[in-house]
Amino acid sequence: MLEKIREIFAQVDTAPIESAEQLEQFRLAYVGRKGVIADLFEGLKTAPPEDRRAIGAELNNLKNLALNKFAEGRDRLETLQAGVAQPAPVDLTLPGYPNEVGAMHPLSIVRARIVEIFGRIGFNVSDGPEIEDDWHNFTALNFPPNHPAREMQDTFFIEKNPDVVLRTHTSNVQVRLMENGKPPFRSIMPGRVYRNEAISARAHCMFHQVEGLYVDRNVSFVDLKQTLYHFSREMFGKDIKIRFRPSFFPFTEPSAEIDINCLICKGSGCNICKHTGWVEIGGSGMVDPSVLQNCGIDPEEFTGFAFGMGLERMANLLYVIRDLRLFTENDIRFLRQFGPVS
Ligand code: DAH
Repeated sequence: MLEKIREIFAQVDTAPIESAEQLEQFRLAYVGRKGVIADLFEGLKTAPPEDRRAIGAELNNLKNLALNKFAEGRDRLETLQAGVAQPAPVDLTLPGYPNEVGAMHPLSIVRARIVEIFGRIGFNVSDGPEIEDDWHNFTALNFPPNHPAREMQDTFFIEKNPDVVLRTHTSNVQVRLMENGKPPFRSIMPGRVYRNEAISARAHCMFHQVEGLYVDRNVSFVDLKQTLYHFSREMFGKDIKIRFRPSFFPFTEPSAEIDINCLICKGSGCNICKHTGWVEIGGSGMVDPSVLQNCGIDPEEFTGFAFGMGLERMANLLYVIRDLRLFTENDIRFLRQFGPVS
């Protein structure tokens, strides 16, 4: 009988428990009430009485071995199944993670250059909300309620509250700046604006402007012209030509549109400049006295100029981008072309 017990010892010792089936087989063969070890205990009753003690001790050892091995196998399989098993083996031959360097978005490059150029001549940067009330987007800027000038800009209104709009221009920040401070103001205000336009290569419902405001004693149209001339030369190169075209904005008087000569065809005519050789980059003018008044500034004492320019328009000219949709599509093949983050 001892012989038999040793044989089973060896079997229990080497029996594999690597799966649920093997665990069950092991249980039936060695641990269960109908297994070999239970049989051996049964046989103990017929063993010679003088041998019973020794055989019994060996049998108990065998039983404990089987129980321990069963419990250990069951626990191991359970942890494996719960997914907290040993860490996945590391494959040291795999290549490392590439350290990809991003690129600046072309609009971010343009904005950074504008901020830098104006910063050097004493303009700081101001910010304002994109969700705006009627006063700051329109009324304070001399757009009377129901005035047709409001139709110049297709506005997104909130249906339940027509007093709330997505700002149609960055001019709202001018108002907030003047309401909350005292002259002199010398600030630029870059930001996102919204208009209810169908998206195409030439129009978008979301785009970017940079507003400028200079209010102090004795600010004149000469200052406006010289500032924007200086800016254009810094931004587009020393050979740039700039022209001011008389125009109308409710918040400036007089008003002028700002054109630069077409960088793409250099004046010979192309579809970007509609064969005129000139491209409009924004609007400008002397701040209307009633706007100053609306913001609590005495127009007898202070004068100012303002301008608003399109960032996309400038990026189009600098990088020869012909489709506005490219700016928001996030196509990596487009974005990669604008150099690494500096
Ligand atoms: N807000 C105007 C627009 O979006 C642009 C503009 C024109 C801004 C003249 C100004 C300005 O500050 O003086 O069309």
